[in-house]
Amino acid sequence: MTDTLQQIPKENVQSSNILVTLDQVLQEKSTYKRRILTGMRPSGPLHVGHYFGALDNWLKLQDHFDCMFLIADLHALADHSEHPEVIRQNVIEVTLDWLAAGLDPQKGAFFVQTGVSELENLTVLFETMVSLKRHQLNPTLKSELERMNDSQKTVSFHNYPISQAADILGPLGDLVPAGADQQPMIELARDIAARYNKQYAGDFVFPQPQILLGSVPRLVGTDGGEKMSKTIGNTINLSDSTEIIRKKVNEMISPVKKLQESGRVEGHVVFMYLDIFHKDKQELEEVKRSYEKGGIGEKMLKDMLFQDVEEFIAPIRERRAQLAKDLSYVQDILVDGTSRVKARVQGTLMEVRFRMGTFMG
Ligand code: TRP
Repeated sequence: MTDTLQQIPKENVQSSNILVTLDQVLQEKSTYKRRILTGMRPSGPLHVGHYFGALDNWLKLQDHFDCMFLIADLHALADHSEHPEVIRQNVIEVTLDWLAAGLDPQKGAFFVQTGVSELENLTVLFETMVSLKRHQLNPTLKSELERMNDSQKTVSFHNYPISQAADILGPLGDLVPAGADQQPMIELARDIAARYNKQYAGDFVFPQPQILLGSVPRLVGTDGGEKMSKTIGNTINLSDSTEIIRKKVNEMISPVKKLQESGRVEGHVVFMYLDIFHKDKQELEEVKRSYEKGGIGEKMLKDMLFQDVEEFIAPIRERRAQLAKDLSYVQDILVDGTSRVKARVQGTLMEVRFRMGTFMG
């Protein structure tokens, strides 16, 4: 992340497509360096689903763009405010996972949401620009709320999409690597930006952020369920020990047991994992053909997967253990990244207050 902010070119302010691919962005002729803004809630140790769904992509992006990686602790507090100490600990855990996976805090700033109080000021001003009706139609928010119990449904949680718009627009982020479920959030940020630019902007304008689509293979849970999640308990964590990996692989089941018995590759959880973890694709094809003919049993398959997962996680686990010995270094990284992003958001807030505030102070 560079410390000075380049003026946003017109084409990034006006109507750009909401979705772009990495190839499209890399082919852009402009010398303007795109700003990546993405983040995660610190809700526990990261798992291989996070790795292949996000981190793997971020590792490539950090070499090309001005990157800002957010730890969204306010969003974690929004539905778990009874245990701030757990969230505080998870902020450190996520940072350790990011570093161990290879994200470089020299290349991109790691920052903590509640460390940039200007984002909260911006959120409040943005809230005046969003009608309740439009807000309540947000499909991602709606389905999240449906799955929550009443005590978790706080006002803060309801408003997180607007806070997310502030996260993105505050430091003038214009590319958000995210999945399709984030589209309503980015649409909202774009609407707020457009509304501001039309109604209040002078020389200062907000960009129209875009979703950067990754070629992300979706990793099912170890139980074959759609989603890998800590609450379901079907994850393989980046910090799991050899023994735990062994156990989790051994306990993997196929959702369709009968198919498995008849030697079907399709829908077989172990093969879904092998598709991602096994490097020698040709060998994997041979294993699949052999399995279909009954030449290979479940145990051999699981041994193979265990080797692959262990080989992948072992170096991450070792780096993580090294880093965990010096938590003050980890803390310094967060303080540094947070203060750099804070400086950017301060600039934005000054502009917005100048236009929207009615009393200086
Ligand atoms: N809502 C995102 C999640 O739950 C986290 C997040 C907060 C975020 N602010 C963001 C992601 C800004 C991208 C950009 O994972």
